[in-house]
Amino acid sequence: MGQDRVIFDYTNFLAAAVGPEHGLTDADLAAAAPLVEKAHAAVTAGRGKGWQVWTELPGQKALADECVALWKKVNGKFENLVVIGIGGSALGTLAVKSALCHPLHNELPNDARRGARLYLLDNPDPTVCGALLETLNLSKTLFNVVTKSGSTAETISQFLVAREAVAGEVGKRWPEHFVFTTDPKKGDLRKLAEQEKIPALAVPEGVGGRFSVLSAVGLFPAAAMGLEVHELSSGAAELDKRCVSPDWKKNPALALAMMLWLLDARKAKPIHVLMPYATGLADLADWFRQLWAESLGKAKSLDGRTVNIGPTPVKALGAIDQHSQVQLYAEGPFDKAFVFVGLRKLAREVTIPKAYPELSACGYLGGHGLGELLDAERQGTELALTAAHRPNATIFLDELSEHSLGGLFFLLELATAYAGRLYNVDAFDQPGVEAGKVASYALLGRKGYEAERARIEQSRPAGGRKTV
Ligand code: PA5
Repeated sequence: MGQDRVIFDYTNFLAAAVGPEHGLTDADLAAAAPLVEKAHAAVTAGRGKGWQVWTELPGQKALADECVALWKKVNGKFENLVVIGIGGSALGTLAVKSALCHPLHNELPNDARRGARLYLLDNPDPTVCGALLETLNLSKTLFNVVTKSGSTAETISQFLVAREAVAGEVGKRWPEHFVFTTDPKKGDLRKLAEQEKIPALAVPEGVGGRFSVLSAVGLFPAAAMGLEVHELSSGAAELDKRCVSPDWKKNPALALAMMLWLLDARKAKPIHVLMPYATGLADLADWFRQLWAESLGKAKSLDGRTVNIGPTPVKALGAIDQHSQVQLYAEGPFDKAFVFVGLRKLAREVTIPKAYPELSACGYLGGHGLGELLDAERQGTELALTAAHRPNATIFLDELSEHSLGGLFFLLELATAYAGRLYNVDAFDQPGVEAGKVASYALLGRKGYEAERARIEQSRPAGGRKTV
């Protein structure tokens, strides 16, 4: 295994493990190699340009320094950080918190917690937003409003609600309770930052929401939670160095992208399940779900043809989903490929006490660890799915640390960029999301969206909606 902290084990994606009907044969891999090299060349040529500026985020020490310094400046005044953002502006932060913070981070007393408590306002659900604002001590709360566009309705609306609540508590000093993370030049939030003298971190141009976790979008909240921000970034940089080769056998992100694409395109497996065996990685699977879906699900190909293409990502969690989804996975349609995430080393182990040796349900467990059990369950599911001819792979992390999580984020981001080329779609736009945003602006009467409002009214079904 060498020193690598993130390893992609594709043994059971291959025909040798699951049979040639469902697994990848040498011929499949050899035939794909020229396309895969082209995909690598295209992504490599685009690095740092256009919507691929995110490839340059790993290892940017100045960026990590800036996030840590800003938190240090305000630290002492605040016990809580509320991130207001949605989609790519929120999911990475949640994944970071769940993976790296104490499982009861928010509940720990101040002297035992590494940093600020973290809360998220993403969905504009009045029950949640209202409850959070009336429960938190607002005089001890900093709000990080994160929106690349500076105009997303869910985010701006909750900023306005939070601003009023904070002003009600601290009066004119409300701006001191806000940090913005937004476009470096454009957008209404940038204007507001200047007007109200609110510190504003940048989501650099060319870094889209779902590729932004290693920018200030994810790094500032990570700094506030007391995490090793530089390690997140250097872990990603280390992984990046392992992905320079156009040979998929030497490039884990390229291998992952190629195999998931081939399993979809050649073996009819358009459903891609990411199933970590660590509770802390459940939100990572959620983050990946957005990354894979929003990047690869497209109407048009890069050459302008209508293709309506894209794999469907599914998030699962071991061992919980063994008691929920694995029946379907093992015996249902042969339309899925699985990627497990396993940990080589656990942050802690809990030993199962030896008791009731005479009972067969208890006796064999005594002396083993809960982590050992969880890993045995991962191996058991791997064996069962392989025996049932279901292609599956495993990404192993050496441990759940800032360094390996940074590497995992970057592995999946880079794999998504390569997969975009293999599916022949633009992995960095999201016209389908924009259409929904525009419609909601029109429905709420935003200036400039009058024509869209008229179009919506005209498209209402004649005779009203059909209900029963
Ligand atoms: O990945 C994306 O681009 C989207 O999910 C956006 O992050 C999301 O729509 C929020 O957009 P914004 O950051 O502009 O508020």
